[in-house]
Amino acid sequence: MKTASKLGLMIIGLTLATSGFAAKDPLKNAIKARQGEMQLRAFNAGPLFAMAKGQMDYDADMASKLAGNLKLMLDLDTSRHWPKGSDVDNYMGETTALPKIWTTYPEIGKYGKKYAAAVNEVAAVAGNGADALKSKIGALGDSCKGCHDEFREKKN
Ligand code: HEC
Repeated sequence: MKTASKLGLMIIGLTLATSGFAAKDPLKNAIKARQGEMQLRAFNAGPLFAMAKGQMDYDADMASKLAGNLKLMLDLDTSRHWPKGSDVDNYMGETTALPKIWTTYPEIGKYGKKYAAAVNEVAAVAGNGADALKSKIGALGDSCKGCHDEFREKKN
């Protein structure tokens, strides 16, 4: 019991030390935040793509919930996720964000708008059957890929 709680305290101490360290570099935190948001996008969009491809049974409730989540996330103000200097040239191995995001700004905004439009279209029909979902999901996938092709470092 005593050992267990000591260990617990040690772990809490370590966690605090680690997060305290990370807080010293706000750019790193911003990178983590935007990657976290991207992971949420992928986690919610993944089953929608799978349902549209027939790799997963279509489920109207689930489809509208997931599309609704993507739509809710459009309301986040993510401007603090993209501070200047937080690109792959400065943070190699930690980000795949190309400097081009900042040097061609506000070009990336066009891609963000396409993504938002695609999310809204998917969310409007996701619960209306597999065919309705299929009719809109392609544009969503293209919007993810379009932006990644332009603004993310290619992985070999
Ligand atoms: C407007 C541009 C844009 C759109 C649209 C976009 N992404 Fe991204 N995405 C990025 C950028 C830039 C990165 C690199 C972020 C980094 O590494 O700091 C990224 C990274 C990611 C990652 C990797 C995150 C990590 O942990 O390293 C995933 C997964 C991802 N995106 C999924 C998606 C999905 C799924 C969609 C569409 C539903 C999408 N993205 C739409 C720009 C975009």
